[in-house]
Amino acid sequence: MVDVDWDLLRTRAVEAAQSAYCPYSGLQVGAAALCDDGRIVVGCNVENAAYGVGLCAECTLAGQFVLTGGGRLVALACRSGTGELLMPCGRCRQVIYELGGAPCLIDTPSGILPMSRVLPDAFGPEDLP
Ligand code: THU
Repeated sequence: MVDVDWDLLRTRAVEAAQSAYCPYSGLQVGAAALCDDGRIVVGCNVENAAYGVGLCAECTLAGQFVLTGGGRLVALACRSGTGELLMPCGRCRQVIYELGGAPCLIDTPSGILPMSRVLPDAFGPEDLP
């Protein structure tokens, strides 16, 4: 079991948000996650002139996670560039569920909650034949 340093994860999320490419919304979003081997991976949103193909911070985090060795996500924090807590959007909850499953912990306005609470009754790998 890896110990979660939530203050560090939140700080790393804010730092990541400050690298965001968000000329359209102006909302800098950063995500930071602890992996089961103890490393921290981060991501920021990357927008696009074709608005619908912009990437959320959690999606670029997923890329770094896989590229740097994969494993399982244990805990994740999402923050704006000015430090406000942001919740992962619905699509990103699905992305996080794939990589961390029901036990993965999320920093929410209601406290630290597992993905089983953040995305209840999720569709996941176990539903595929
Ligand atoms: N955004 C994220 O990066 N993650 C989320 O979970 C919610 C939304 C980004 C997408 C877009 O660049 C900006 O926030 C405004 O929607």
